[in-house]
Formats: sequence, C-alpha cells, structure tokens
Amino acid sequence: MQIANRVQQVEKSETLRVKEKALELRRQGVDVIDLTAGEPDFPTPSHICAAGEAAIRDGFTKYTASAGIPELRQAIVDKLSRENQLQYQPEQIIVTVGAKPAIITALWAILNPGDEVIIPAPYWVSYPQQVRMADGVPVIVDTRDSGFKITPQALENHITPRTRAFLFNSPCNPTGVVYTPDELQALADVLKGRNIWILSDEIYEKIIFDDQVHRSIAGYDGLYHQTIVINGVSKAYAMTGWRIGYAAGPTEIIQAMNRLQSHFTTPPSISQKAALVALTGDQSPVEEMRRRFQKRRDILVDGLKQIPGLSFVYPEGAFYLFVNVSGLFGRKWNRGVLKTSLDVCDYLIETQHLVAVPGKGFGAPDYIRLSFATSEAVLEKAIVALKQAVQALNQ
Ligand SMILES: Cc1ncc(COP(=O)(O)O)c(C=O)c1O
Repeated sequence: MQIANRVQQVEKSETLRVKEKALELRRQGVDVIDLTAGEPDFPTPSHICAAGEAAIRDGFTKYTASAGIPELRQAIVDKLSRENQLQYQPEQIIVTVGAKPAIITALWAILNPGDEVIIPAPYWVSYPQQVRMADGVPVIVDTRDSGFKITPQALENHITPRTRAFLFNSPCNPTGVVYTPDELQALADVLKGRNIWILSDEIYEKIIFDDQVHRSIAGYDGLYHQTIVINGVSKAYAMTGWRIGYAAGPTEIIQAMNRLQSHFTTPPSISQKAALVALTGDQSPVEEMRRRFQKRRDILVDGLKQIPGLSFVYPEGAFYLFVNVSGLFGRKWNRGVLKTSLDVCDYLIETQHLVAVPGKGFGAPDYIRLSFATSEAVLEKAIVALKQAVQALNQ
C-alpha cells in the first residue's frame, strides 16, 4: 500500500535508536545512566495537579473553543504583558496542544510550497522536519564558528526572495545559548520591515541561569507585527504530558492558525484549567526548579572540564550540555574506530551504560547532547563514566 512522499522527506530519528538500546539494557536489569531527557524530571507542582483534578470532578471534560478557553487566553495575554512587555488582545492568542503543534500550525499558515525557512544550527531536531512537513525548504545556517549564535551578517547572507520565515530559539535546545539584548537588536535590524515571519520559540524562557535575562525578539522595534511568539507550560511548569502550548501574534496569523487547528484538534479541557493555574498561581516552584537545574548544570560543567578531549558549549539556559566529541574520533575500541558522534554514543552505551543523544539530528554531527534534567546522583555517576570512557581510549 502507498505511503506518501511526505513521509520520505522526514528523517528517521537516530535518538530513537539510542533510546531503544538503552531500553533493551534496562530490560536486562542494567543500571542505565540516562542523559537523554528532554523534559524536567520534577513532578508537576501539586497546586497545578489539583486544578486538573478539580476540572475532572467538575465535569469540565468536553470540547472547548478550538483556540482555547477565554480565561486561559486572557491569562496568556496578562503573562506576556507582565513578563515580556508584549501587549496582545485575547484574539491574538491561540492555545495549542503543546508548543510543538504551535510551530507546525504556524508553518502551515505561513508557507507555500518551496518557501524557505532560515534555521540556525544546531537546532531542535523537529524544526527542519516540521518545515518539510509544511512543504517548505529548511535553510540551515551553521553557527559553530560564531559562538553558536547566528550573526546578523549570516542571517542577511541567507535571505533570498523565497525566505518566508526565520525560526529562532533562545534559550536554545541543544546548546543552551541565550541571545543578549544587543544580539537580538542586531538581528531585528536585519529582519525589520521585511516580508519574513519570525517564529520565536521561547519554551525555555524560564530555565535561564546566572545573570542572563530572557527578552522576546517580538519586543524589538518593528518586529511585533511580524513575530509569532511560541511558548507553553511544558518546560517551565514540568507539564510536558499535559500538552498545552500557545502562540501569540498579529490577529490575521492567529486567526489563520485557528482556522487550520479547528479542523484537526482542540487543546485538552482539563489541561487548560491546569495551565490557567500554572500561569496565574504560585510561581515559586518554577524558581525552585530553575535553581536546581542551575546547580546540576554546575555539577556537570565542573565534571566535564576535567576530562581532556571533550569540549562543550557553556549552557546559559535550558537543561542540556552540548559536547564536542570530535577529539575522540580516530580512537579504537574493541568494536572498531570511533568516526562519528553516533559511534561515540554506541561506545558510551556499551562500555559505560551511559545514554546520550547524538548531535546529527541537531545539525551538529561532531557533538552529543547530555541532559541535566536528572538527579545530582545520576550526574555524578555520569561524570565518572565519561572519565573512564575517555581514559580507556587513551590506553
Ligand atoms: C526547543 C523546543 N521547542 C518546543 C518543544 C516542544 O514543547 P511541547 O512539549 O510543549 O510541545 C521542545 C521540546 O523538547 C523544545 O525543545
């Protein structure tokens, strides 16, 4: 039976292969050091869970408006005003089934076949795939030589008459870099007034370290009318399974997105009530989780600094450490020579039972991604395992 060409254009995930190996080891009773988590390991704060339970008890278990319940859209308006100094009306907000669908729905609403979307690499794995699923062409801009941030010049150089969007992510998964206000201003100067949408994925906004500040690029002069802010409750409130995200932008794009969304999904009613409490209730668990992530970042960074042959991007936000493993290429182990980061991942799983995500899917094949959304004890074990793994290659 036929499978559509569209499917062929979407790459199979290498992450899955690594995860399957880890699962197999676990099944055999092996204690796996899992550094693949893409979500907070903390439970959803109890007052948010209570709101979900109350919604069920109250029978709030039916379809809602496809763009989301009015109270939640208003709470998002208030949040964007209070925290991001961005002023919207409720009709400029669409609630989605997580941030991931918000991005593809925006792409469907923007792109005609063959339209180009500029994506700085390393990028979150789903970006290029989603662009392809929307019949667009991902235009990847390598940022490894510019501190893992796209420069205004590189952005300018990749703009063509077919460029319809710029997919931007700060704090960034997988590198953890955070763009400074000056850097945002410089990008804004390139984009301002052009017929190019900016999709600003701000899902890691609250997981930010030291004295970094998150600013939305939508707030830079002239960009409000061409920016779609993507955010949600998944990461900040440890609510990945509740599936609530949102997009904010000019009325015409949000209405276009809702026209599409209304024919394929509705955000879950119970989760919307919980997200409402997340955004309007006690914010102290968010700060507590941020603090714990920062502590874990410090543990992992301090440990990795002592391992020769590995270098990494210093994470200013999110919960990942992106490690350059090319210093290990050419070394031998009993299954052959390490040539790629996938080989390094295989080597780490098989010799240390440590699972990391290979960088190829993020557009950085010489890297692996280590998540520090896991306990301090696991991170300590991981450091020992990485040290042993590198030492064994030197013998
Ligand atoms: C950069 C980025 N954007 C969006 C998402 C998806 O968020 P959600 O779970 O709300 O769909 C993720 C999840 O890993 C992410 O890393």
